[in-house]
Amino acid sequence: MRLTRMSMAFRFCTLSSISPRLHSASAVLYRQMSTDAKSVADRLSSSGFIRSQGLIGGKWTDAYDGKTIEVCNPATGEVITNVSCMGGKETNDAIESAHNAFVSWSKLTAAERSKYLRKWFDLIMAHKEELGQLMTLEQGKPLREAIGEVSYGASFIEFYAEEAKRVYGDIIPATLPDRRLFVLKQPIGVVGAITPWNFPLAMITRKVAPALACGCTVVIKPSELTPLTALAAAELSIQAGIPPGAVNVVMGNAIDIGDALVASPKVRKITFTGSTNVGKKLMAGAAGTVKKVSLELGGNAPCIIFDDADLDVALKGTLATKFRNSGQTCVCANRVLVQEGIFDKFANAFSKAVESMKVGDGFGEGVSNQIILLLIFHAGPSD
Ligand SMILES: NC(=O)c1ccc[n+]([C@@H]2O[C@H](COP(=O)([O-])OP(=O)(O)OC[C@H]3O[C@@H](n4cnc5c(N)ncnc54)[C@H](O)[C@@H]3O)[C@@H](O)[C@H]2O)c1
Repeated sequence: MRLTRMSMAFRFCTLSSISPRLHSASAVLYRQMSTDAKSVADRLSSSGFIRSQGLIGGKWTDAYDGKTIEVCNPATGEVITNVSCMGGKETNDAIESAHNAFVSWSKLTAAERSKYLRKWFDLIMAHKEELGQLMTLEQGKPLREAIGEVSYGASFIEFYAEEAKRVYGDIIPATLPDRRLFVLKQPIGVVGAITPWNFPLAMITRKVAPALACGCTVVIKPSELTPLTALAAAELSIQAGIPPGAVNVVMGNAIDIGDALVASPKVRKITFTGSTNVGKKLMAGAAGTVKKVSLELGGNAPCIIFDDADLDVALKGTLATKFRNSGQTCVCANRVLVQEGIFDKFANAFSKAVESMKVGDGFGEGVSNQIILLLIFHAGPSD
């Protein structure tokens, strides 16, 4: 069987080169949507939804040296706000706060913690429009998709709030008559959670919700490109009554923050979603204090279409896997292999479908793909 490899022209970075029409459409949207994004930013800012400081021990805190970094709208390049640019010192204080809060948070029953988490879930869902708008502003994804991520992200909080009540242990048949063997599951302590820019809320709740539900406390380091959704979610955790210090957020100098998290003996687990290179560094660093590590790294996913495929289904599936979040998800296909017999039909249909996509500001009508060129520029090298 011979498979034909489709050109890597389908990769995200050359989206606009697929069709000149796409390019000019995105230029038009770029100009139109700039004002909309600005008015959304102003509204969110005046309602206190845009926070610019880190959260340490329940207090909104500037970087100790007063430094800030810009958070930009990737569709327009406009600065949304400046946030604290934190480093090792702030991270160590956040770890200390989380360590102190662990004493009382871990002693609550799972049912008590579940009530706090449920409240947090309810608040996130009650503010899903604002959180979605904030996400589109800083990350660029289409508003509908951003609001979808808010529900998806919140669902982790709901799920783990329930699930933690059922963290059972085990009784193990003993090998000696005078012994009793059992497994008792206990919270391990402070968890460092480092997350990427492509899912600004869901990657956080997926880590923080199970940690909190089990009785651990957390220090979150969101991406510097998309800290605003994380900060807004943290504010809602305070409003939900989750005690000060249980949830901390630091952002800024990634290397200094990462180094402080892996070096501290008080951090008992590192959970990370991001590039393979950074994951490897964190894993090596965590070995020094023998921390538990959970890594969710870059994907390597071929999309394969065989001669007997249903063309419509294959087309829909390929578009979804290649272009969701503008190709910036871990499971996005990074190559498309099409069997010879269906190649021409598929390539024609695929090109037409791609031409009809609208690339633009995430607030635009019918926009299916965000402008991410600026984000890529800001993000720098990845794996
Ligand atoms: N497996 C999954 O489910 C999944 C989900 C989403 C993203 N991803 C992967 O994430 C990557 C995209 O995210 P990205 O480009 O933001 O990745 P990235 O590794 O550049 O950044 C991820 C996070 O790590 C931080 N970071 C960077 N250097 C660090 C260091 N030395 N110490 C500590 N933290 C550091 C960044 O500031 C950011 O918060 C892609 O490779 C994608 O495939 C995987």
